Amino acid sequence: MSEITLRGISKRYADGTTAVDNVDLDIQDGEFVILVGPSGCGKSTLLRMIVGLEDISEGDLSIGGNRVNTLGPKDRNLAMVFQNYALYPHLSVRENIAFPLRLAKMEPGEIDQRVGEAARVLELGEFLDRKPAALSGGQRQRVAMGRAIVREPAAFLFDEPLSNLDAKLRVQMRTEIARLQKRYGTTTVYVTHDQTEAMTLGDRVAVLRKGIMQQVGSPRELYNNPINLFVAGFIGSPSMNFLPGQIRGGKLTLPMAELDLPEEFRERVGANAGGREEQSVIVGVRPEHFEDASMVSKDVLGSGVTFRSRIDVIEWMGSELYAYIPVQGSARHNQGMAELARELDQEDVRSEGDESQIVARLDPASRVREGEESELWLDARRLHLFEPETGASLTYREGAGDPTTEGAHPGASHGGSNGGGTAGGRGGELGGAGGAGAVRRDA
Ligand SMILES: Nc1ncnc2c1ncn2[C@@H]1O[C@H](COP(=O)(O)OP(=O)(O)O)[C@@H](O)[C@H]1O
Ligand SMILES: [Mg+2]
Repeated sequence: MSEITLRGISKRYADGTTAVDNVDLDIQDGEFVILVGPSGCGKSTLLRMIVGLEDISEGDLSIGGNRVNTLGPKDRNLAMVFQNYALYPHLSVRENIAFPLRLAKMEPGEIDQRVGEAARVLELGEFLDRKPAALSGGQRQRVAMGRAIVREPAAFLFDEPLSNLDAKLRVQMRTEIARLQKRYGTTTVYVTHDQTEAMTLGDRVAVLRKGIMQQVGSPRELYNNPINLFVAGFIGSPSMNFLPGQIRGGKLTLPMAELDLPEEFRERVGANAGGREEQSVIVGVRPEHFEDASMVSKDVLGSGVTFRSRIDVIEWMGSELYAYIPVQGSARHNQGMAELARELDQEDVRSEGDESQIVARLDPASRVREGEESELWLDARRLHLFEPETGASLTYREGAGDPTTEGAHPGASHGGSNGGGTAGGRGGELGGAGGAGAVRRDA
């Protein structure tokens, strides 16, 4: 068994930088976990601590039930898969794959057998005598995988392996890695800053921000049930729109409309807000939860609110239609929101002065027109509400958000500590506002 367990793992570099802060994570045997977050959030540091290339400042790391903090990289039996440039150009594909086994002085018959098997699975059989220069990028990537596979490691670790590839090859390799991981069933930890990669590849995704684990869950959980503003803004493309909102007497006022807060939200927000009468919130609406009102069927209209708005710009791409809509009032006036936008690399075109722009993904058959007023609809059931100071979600529900696993939730077997929810108590912190215990709204 090669489950990997992180308990209270921290990394402080000599210059005082805390790159990883008290991270808990349970990776099951055979599981494919993606570690995702913006550049500089501590992903590589965390991965390098798992492999043994970086000392662990604090906490316990176990592989297959054994504490390995003090073991050297060689004794952890993990394979770091590097990008294609890590192949030896003067060696054939066969010798590139065999390299770690020769290094370990394995018996030649055994080497041939393992290389042959890896080449068969990776469909590299006919290229075994070629040099890497005579291979396509995708084939080179497979050779790099082959070299990791023949060692029969307890786990594969990838650090942004596709970031140097062009967009088309990246998609191809993504599919390839997912296929091989399923085939071998080897525990895999994969680091990326790209949320699309994170959402498409893994069984579970762990979102890291400034060294602190924010939320660990299936892609669906993170998308449907983000624990705070950061996860909400980071997961999903185009990203979630954030609007200022006011809650008063069961009604939610948005810049463009007022609506009755759905019953289930009312209860949760009321309890979370300590029963205050009036409350400012940040409202999150994903682009896909808007629609051209004329395209919404009558029985569904009542689950949301209809409003009129001018449409500034339309991007129509055949399968998709994005409408850019101006709204009065911006959630960006909040200090934390401005910082979040920077971290998420969101351009300021979406917020200027007291006006901001939201993105709506409409039915591509819609006839809405640029520069004209249209009747739009937003789905009130899919709203997210956030506490402006801490960024914690008021609509988050522990263990919810994944219809494919609800009930038989896999998180249960992870010891519940981070199966579906948060792994850290401070993840909701926005703009450095102390924020202890800001996130956990459960229990
Ligand atoms: N050797 C080092 N000494 C000091 N700080 C470092 C060192 N390596 C990385 N860092 C810092 O630690 C933080 C996390 O870095 P890293 O793990 O490389 O992030 P990521 O892989 O998510 O982009 C960054 O602030 C980075 O500048
Ligand atoms: Mg990195």
